Amino acid sequence: MHVLPLARQARVLVVDDDPVNRVVLEALLVEAQYTVFQAEDGPQALAEIDRLDPDVVLLDLTMPGMSGVEVCRRLRENGSQIPVVFVTGRVDREARILCKAAGGDEVLTKPVDELELLARMKNLVLVREGQRLREQHRQRVEAELERAREELVRVDRMATLGKLAAGVGHELNNVAAVYLSLLTAVKECHRTGERLREDDLQALDWVGAHLTCHARQLLSAGRPAGTEKAVVDLRETTQAMLALLNTVGKTRRVEVHTSFPEVPVRVAVNRMRLEQILVNLVGNAVDAVEDGGRGSGQITVRVGGDPAAGTASCCVEDNGCGIPTSALQAVLEPFYTTKPAGRGTGLGLTVVRQLLQEAGGRLDIQSVHGEGSSFTFTLPLSS
Ligand SMILES: Nc1ncnc2c1ncn2[C@@H]1O[C@H](COP(=O)(O)OP(=O)(O)O)[C@@H](O)[C@H]1O
Ligand SMILES: [Mg+2]
Repeated sequence: MHVLPLARQARVLVVDDDPVNRVVLEALLVEAQYTVFQAEDGPQALAEIDRLDPDVVLLDLTMPGMSGVEVCRRLRENGSQIPVVFVTGRVDREARILCKAAGGDEVLTKPVDELELLARMKNLVLVREGQRLREQHRQRVEAELERAREELVRVDRMATLGKLAAGVGHELNNVAAVYLSLLTAVKECHRTGERLREDDLQALDWVGAHLTCHARQLLSAGRPAGTEKAVVDLRETTQAMLALLNTVGKTRRVEVHTSFPEVPVRVAVNRMRLEQILVNLVGNAVDAVEDGGRGSGQITVRVGGDPAAGTASCCVEDNGCGIPTSALQAVLEPFYTTKPAGRGTGLGLTVVRQLLQEAGGRLDIQSVHGEGSSFTFTLPLSS
C-alpha cells in the first residue's frame, strides 16, 4: 500500500447506515494509512464533519431520514468545500446527476472497486490540502489588510495631531506675550511698592484659564485612539471639535454656522474616532473655502436625528471650490489630494469612510464645482 504524501494522516469520515459497509470501508482505508471516523446517518454526519473537519467524506446515497444528497446539499449551502465521494448501490444516470448537482465530487458504485476508490481518495486529499493552504493564505492577507487599515487611521491621526499641536503652539505664543507683559507690570509694582491694577489681575486670570484650556485640549487630542465605544451626544462632540478648531485658529478666517436640534442626538461610537471624522470634514471645508470659493467663506454644520429611520446625521457644508464630477470617486481614494505637499496627505476621507464603515454608518458627498460641497455622515441612532 502507498503512504500518503502528507505531514499527518488524512482523515476520512465514512457515512453509511449499514454497519457492515462502514466496517469494510474502514478496514480498507485504515490499511491505506487513513484515520477513519464513522457516522450512521445524515444528522450525525453533519455534526461529525463540524467537529472533526475531515479531509474527505465518503457518503452513502440512500439512508433513512436524511439522504446523502441532502447532507451534501447542506454542506455546500454552509460554504463547506470539503470533498465528498458518494458511494451508492444505484447505477442509473439519474443518481449520478443527483449526486453531482448536490455538490458531490465523485460518485462510485457499490461494490466499490478498491483501487479506484484509493486513487480518487488520494487526489481529493490533495485537493483538500490545496483548499486549506488557500484559506490560510486568504486569512493571512485579510489580517495584513486589517493591520494596514489600522495603520492608515493612525497615520492620519498623527498628521491631525501634528497640525493641532502647531495651532495650539501658535495660541500659546499669544498667551505668552500677554504673560510677559503682565510680568513686567508685576516686577514694576514689586520695585515701586504700588498695587497691581485690577485689569492686570483679570488678565492674569485670563492667562491661567487659557493655559489650562490649551493643555486640556492637547492632552485630550493626544490620547491614543482606541476602539471602545460609548454613547455620546453628537451635538456636544461636534460643538467641542468646532471650539477646538477655533482655538487653534483653523476656522479663524471663515464664518461657521451651526444648527443643532433641541434634543440630544445619541450615537454609540468611539469618541476619538468621531472627533477624527469631524476634524477631517471641517478641516477640508476650511481648505476648500480658502482655495477660492465665491464671496466670504461660509461653513455650516448641521446635526440631526431621525428616530423613525434610526439615524443620526451630521452635514458639513461649505461654499468653497467644490469638486469636479470626475473626481467625486477619487477623493475617497488613499493619497488622492489636490493640496500642496505639507498641507494634504490625501488620507483624510479614506479614513473617514473607513471609520464610518466600522461604526455602521456611511458618507454622502454632494458637490458643485466652483460652488461648494456638502459632506454628510450618518450613524445609527442610539436609544
Ligand atoms: N469640502 C471639500 N471641498 C472640495 N474638495 C474637497 C473637500 N473635501 C475634500 N476635497 C477634495 O478631496 C481631496 C482629498 O481629501 P482628504 O482625503 O481629506 O485629503 P487631504 O485633505 O489631505 O487632501 C482633497 O485634496 C480635495 O481635493
Ligand atoms: Mg483632508
